[in-house]
Amino acid sequence: MTDLWWFLSRATGIVATILAVAALAWGFFFSSRNTGTRLRPAWWLDLHNWLGGLALVFTAAHLLTVLVDRGSGIGVIQILVPNTAPARTWPMTWGVIATYLFAVVVFTSWPRRRFTKPVWRVLHLTSVVGVVLAGLHAYQAGSDARLLATRIGLLVATAVGTYALGLRLFGSRRRAASR
Ligand code: HEM
Ligand code: HEM
Repeated sequence: MTDLWWFLSRATGIVATILAVAALAWGFFFSSRNTGTRLRPAWWLDLHNWLGGLALVFTAAHLLTVLVDRGSGIGVIQILVPNTAPARTWPMTWGVIATYLFAVVVFTSWPRRRFTKPVWRVLHLTSVVGVVLAGLHAYQAGSDARLLATRIGLLVATAVGTYALGLRLFGSRRRAASR
């Protein structure tokens, strides 16, 4: 039974990471208007919102399974307060901060109109730091981190995120220059 929760904690962590990276890439594709002509921009934004929301749902599932897994050494305090884990302290701290950032991003997005655009954007862009920290957490804390498949997966995730960020940065600059 212990193994079941351990496997589930790893599976939910991996799914949460994939969803967060996908949300990040979709966000950048949308805001740089690099979504092609086949599907409407609203479709991409809807998918982005779902991916982002689901990333938080799977993070919550990850935390629940980590809590139930007795071998993890993680309790409620270690989930809520950074730097309190008895082992793998810094890797766990990255996970705690990433969780808070995802929560901020998701819970400021549904009541988006309550914020001015610049404030909302700054809050939303903290998600980039969240995704990087989640990746670092997975790399440093995960039992599977030494597997070639995990390393390739993290490399692909980094490449996708960087490509999307590049499109956003250079696409916006090109648009500004052509105005
Ligand atoms: C882990 C969760 C999420 C991540 C990592 C994420 C990431 C991003 C990123 C990187 C952008 C591009 C911002 C820019 O280039 O200025 C973006 C845009 C956007 N996101 Fe998210 N997001 C997440 C969740 C959500 C959720 C849950 C919603 C809404 C319910 C949402 C709504 C939006 C909107 C409306 C934009 C377009 C902003 C614009 O260009 O005007 N996001 N997101
Ligand atoms: C309070 C925050 C968090 C805590 C306490 C936590 C705890 C843990 C623990 C104990 C492990 C080790 C499991 C193992 O033995 O392999 C782990 C692995 C992992 N976590 Fe988290 N986590 C947190 C947040 C996150 C977040 C936000 C994400 C991604 C969105 C995430 C993704 C992962 C991944 C991908 C692994 C590696 C799984 C594997 O190697 O198979 N975690 N986490």
